[in-house]
Amino acid sequence: MRGPCSLLGLLALLVAGQCSYSPEPDQQLTLPPGWVSLGRADPEEELSLTFALKQQNVDRLSELVQAVSDPDSPRYGKHLTLEDVAELVRPSQLTLRTVQKWLSAAGAQNCRSVTTRDFLACWLSVRQAELLLSGAEFHRYVGGPAETHAVRSLRPYRLPKALASHVDFVGGLHRFPPTSTLRQRPEPQVPGTTGLHLGVTPSVIRKRYNLTAQDVGSGATNNSQACAQFLEQYFHASDLAEFMRLFGGNFVHQAAVARVVGPQGRGRAGLEASLDVEYLMSAGANISTWVYSSPGRHESQEPFLQWLLLLSNESALPQVHTVSYGDDEDSLSGAYIQRVNVEFMKAAARGLTLLFASGDSGAGCWSVSGRHQFRPSFPASSPYVTTVGGTSFQNPFRITSEVVDYISGGGFSNVFPRPSYQEEAVASYLNSSPHLPPSSYFNASGRAYPDVAALSDGYWVVSNHVPIPWVSGTSASTPVFGGLLSLINEHRILRGHPPLGFLNPRLYKQRGAGLFDVTRGCHESCLNEEVEGQGFCSGPGWDPVTGWGTPNFPALLKTLIDP
Ligand SMILES: *[C@@H]1O[C@H](CO)[C@@H](O)[C@H](O)[C@H]1NC(C)=O
Ligand SMILES: *[C@@H]1O[C@H](CO)[C@@H](O)[C@H](O)[C@H]1NC(C)=O
Ligand SMILES: *[C@@H]1O[C@H](CO)[C@@H](O)[C@H](O)[C@H]1NC(C)=O
Ligand SMILES: *[C@@H]1O[C@H](CO)[C@@H](O)[C@H](O)[C@H]1NC(C)=O
Ligand SMILES: *[C@@H]1O[C@H](CO)[C@@H](O)[C@H](O)[C@H]1NC(C)=O
Repeated sequence: MRGPCSLLGLLALLVAGQCSYSPEPDQQLTLPPGWVSLGRADPEEELSLTFALKQQNVDRLSELVQAVSDPDSPRYGKHLTLEDVAELVRPSQLTLRTVQKWLSAAGAQNCRSVTTRDFLACWLSVRQAELLLSGAEFHRYVGGPAETHAVRSLRPYRLPKALASHVDFVGGLHRFPPTSTLRQRPEPQVPGTTGLHLGVTPSVIRKRYNLTAQDVGSGATNNSQACAQFLEQYFHASDLAEFMRLFGGNFVHQAAVARVVGPQGRGRAGLEASLDVEYLMSAGANISTWVYSSPGRHESQEPFLQWLLLLSNESALPQVHTVSYGDDEDSLSGAYIQRVNVEFMKAAARGLTLLFASGDSGAGCWSVSGRHQFRPSFPASSPYVTTVGGTSFQNPFRITSEVVDYISGGGFSNVFPRPSYQEEAVASYLNSSPHLPPSSYFNASGRAYPDVAALSDGYWVVSNHVPIPWVSGTSASTPVFGGLLSLINEHRILRGHPPLGFLNPRLYKQRGAGLFDVTRGCHESCLNEEVEGQGFCSGPGWDPVTGWGTPNFPALLKTLIDP
C-alpha cells in the first residue's frame, strides 16, 4: 500500500504529525526524585534502543500456560522449550520486514534479535533517534545511589502509523533504572536475657523454616537458581565467601556463584546485590547459582528489559529466578506493562519460576484528583509471577511464629483483572476480613498480591567486607523463598518430575498447604485520617499482606514433591 501514511509517503507528513501515533501516551514522564539533568545529549552520541515487536498467538500462549501450570490438566508440567515458544509468538513476516525496513532507512546499526524474534536491540545516534522517534528529545541525567548516568527523553515519542500493528513500544527512552528500597532499620532494644538470636542469619532462617542438614542440593542434577541485579548493583565474591565463613557453618553450601551473566563492574558492592546472593545461596544451599548482574549498563538501556531479552535468548536457564525490582503500576505505560506481562507468560510456559518482591511500602499511597488511594506495584501485580511479601518474628529476638512486617507490599492491581486461580481465595478474604479499608482505596476486581511471604526483617548481610545488621525489605524474603523452591525442584528432578514452573495455580489449588499461615498484623498505607496509616490486615488463609504465608519446608516439600 502506498497511501499517504505508508512508510514511503511518510517523512513529509510525519513532521505534520498526521501519520503518527503515540505507543505509550500514559507513560509517566517526570524525573524521578534524586535525578538531575546535565543538558541535551550530544547528537553524535550512540544510543541503544529496544524495539518490542508485536507478537503472534498471545491467546494461545496464555492457554498453554494455564495447561502446563494447572495440576489438574493433562498437560501439567509438560513445559515448552524456548524454541516452542519462539514458534508460537514470533512476529509475522510482515512485522519483521516492516520494522527492519523502517530501522535500516533510519540508519540503525547492528540490530540484534533474540531467539523469539520479538525484540530488536539497535544502536542509533541521538540525532537519528530523534528523527526516528518524533517528539523525543534526549538529555543526559545523573542520579541514583551510585550517581548513575542515563540518557533519556522526558518528551513523548510518536511512531509512524504504519507501525501501529507492528511495534508495542520502544525501550530506552523514558523509564529510569529502578532504585532498591531495601533499608537498614534502627536496632531494636536488646533485652538482657540469654538464648536469643541477634538478627536473621541463615541458621535462623533454616531453623524457622524447619530445614535440616540434609536439605541442601545434591549436586546430582543440573538444577540451578538465579537472582537479577539492576542499577549498578554488584555483589563481591569475597563478601559472599566471608558471609559463608561467618554464617554458613552448619549447612553444606557453595561459596561461589556458578555464573555471572552480564558485566560485573568493579564498583562498590551493593547492599541489595549482596543480600540476594547471600540468602539465595543459604536457603537454596549447595545449588548452582547464577547472578544476572546489572545487565544493560549502557546509559540508554533499561536494565530490566535487558534481563527479559536475555531470558528470551537462551534455552537452558536456571529454573528459579528471584527479582527485587518494582515500579509504581501507575507510572508505567499500558503498552509496556502488557508486553512485560507476556514476557512472564513466555517464562511460565517454559517452566521457569519467577519470584518478585512485593515492595516495601505496604499498600502504598498516592493521590488521584485530590483523593487518596493505595498504590499497587508492578511486576508484583502481574498474574504470571509469584509475589513474595514480608514478615517479622513476633518476638524480634526469638525464633517464634511470624507476624506481618508493616512494610510488606500488597494489594490489588488496577491493570490486571483477578486471575481465576485466586478467585475463591480473594473473594473469601474480601467477604470475611473484619478490617477492610474503604473500597475507594483499592480495586477489588484486580489481581491481588502477594502470593506467599517469608521473613523480611532484621537480616545480617556482608557487603564491602562489613557485616551489616538489621537490613530489611521484601528483597530479603524473595531469595529465601526462591532458594526453598529450588530445593523442592531438586527433589522433583531427582524423581524424574519436571520443575515446579509457574507455581500460583497449584499454590492456590492447594490452599497454601505447607505454609505457616500468618494471621496477625496489618501493613502501612496512607497517613491520613481516613485510614490512619493502615492498609490491609492479615487473617486466616490468604490475605493481601502475606499471601498464603511462610514456608514450613518439610510440609511444603511433601505437598509439592510429586506431580
Ligand atoms: C542473542 O543470541 C545470539 C546468539 O548467541 C546473539 O548473536 C545475539 O546478539 C543475542 N541477542 C541479543 C539481543 O543480545
Ligand atoms: C516445624 O516448625 C514448627 C514451628 O517452628 C513446629 O511446630 C513443627 O513441629 C516443625 N516440624 C514440622 C515437620 O512441621
Ligand atoms: C553438594 O554439591 C556437590 C556438587 O556441587 C556434591 O558433590 C555434594 O555431594 C553435595 N553435598 C551434599 C551434602 O549433598
Ligand atoms: C539439564 O538436564 C537436562 C535433562 O537431563 C538436559 O536436557 C539439559 O541439557 C541439561 N541442561 C544443562 C544446562 O546442562
Ligand atoms: C480496576 O481494575 C480493572 C481490572 O481488573 C481495570 O480494568 C479498571 O480500569 C480498574 N479501575 C481503576 C479505577 O483503575
